[in-house]
Amino acid sequence: MSGTGTNLQALLDACADDAYGARVVAVGADRSGTFAIERAGLAGVPTFVLEVKQYGQRADWDAALTQVVADYTPDLIVLAGFMKLVGPVFMARFGGRIMNTHPALSPSFPGMHGPRDALAYGVKVTGCTLFFVDQGIDTGPIVAQAAVPVLETDDENSLHDRIKAVERRLLVDTVGALARDGWTVIGRKVTIP
Ligand code: GRF
Repeated sequence: MSGTGTNLQALLDACADDAYGARVVAVGADRSGTFAIERAGLAGVPTFVLEVKQYGQRADWDAALTQVVADYTPDLIVLAGFMKLVGPVFMARFGGRIMNTHPALSPSFPGMHGPRDALAYGVKVTGCTLFFVDQGIDTGPIVAQAAVPVLETDDENSLHDRIKAVERRLLVDTVGALARDGWTVIGRKVTIP
């Protein structure tokens, strides 16, 4: 987590119901003082913060993050608003079960400013994409997508807010389905049976 954690909150709320089939075992952030970590604490979920600047080199941060996460033995790792690229050690350990969320319809508008770039391009429909993280930026196999219309009156914030409302629902539905039913990835094609 790097941000305000509304996606996290949606997952924490969903997990309150046993029938949902998933449980948040821990929440980590790469920055201290985020509201996301506070939300996790309020829900009674263990938290950790590992900032790159605490480590001599990025590789050391990568190794430390991998170890901390491994200790929680997660089945699925959700990067919800985690705005850093995870390192090669983390990818080698958890590749194939790291899911990220991007506020645009991939493969359009990868990177840090999905809503802004969609607006600037003038698309009439954008949305959000859940994908399994690979080596690229927002390029991994797509797990789920949902569309959001762009309104004449939109600015970056209003568009991102409407995307986030849809993104939260998609994330909750998809994480629950992955946890309950599992998944397969063949090439770029992700299937939830
Ligand atoms: C989400 O739109 C996510 O896709 C993007 O940053 C936003 C995070 O929102 N990478 P929040 O911290 O979950 O509220």
